[in-house]
Amino acid sequence: MNQIDLPHLDQQICACRLCPLFLERNLAVPGSGPAPADIMLVGEAPGKEEDLTGKPFVGRAGRLLDAALERAGLERSRVFITSVIKCRPPQNRKPKKKEIERCRPYLQSQIEILHPKIICLMGNTAAQAVLGRQGIADLRGRILEDRYLVTFHPAAVLRNRNLMDDFVSDLKMLNTGGLRLV
Ligand code: URA
Repeated sequence: MNQIDLPHLDQQICACRLCPLFLERNLAVPGSGPAPADIMLVGEAPGKEEDLTGKPFVGRAGRLLDAALERAGLERSRVFITSVIKCRPPQNRKPKKKEIERCRPYLQSQIEILHPKIICLMGNTAAQAVLGRQGIADLRGRILEDRYLVTFHPAAVLRNRNLMDDFVSDLKMLNTGGLRLV
């Protein structure tokens, strides 16, 4: 994909028909936040409320993410938030490999356009799609390849509130702009 600007990329995503998910979506969810953005957060896939509003992380997981960002001292308006795939899978099932592959150029273009200093991969789907690695317990809490931070997906923290402190402490690392290499 040639370099284009963010509004045009958003238009392409919203009109995308590269995989069958377009048949069932209400709205695609390209992502939102400042451009350029020093910090980028990447989730898995839009859920029901995201599909209805076209905005990322506005449902229950989004409210937990907001609370965690606040505790980490990060304003949501400072970060660009998106997901690996931009359309909701039916019944919120995991994205299929093929869906991730079809959607990959959109995330790649977003990274090229936004030039984030640090990219936070929330959950195994994002870690696998971007780094080709899984295993949050092993990967989390340190900067990888100079600009990636792996942490829990907010939905995992919703299911297990004991993860919240670690999630917040990972998000605090974003505040350093990724300069704290561990
Ligand atoms: N989960 C995600 O991964 N992305 C969203 O936008 C919402 C929930």
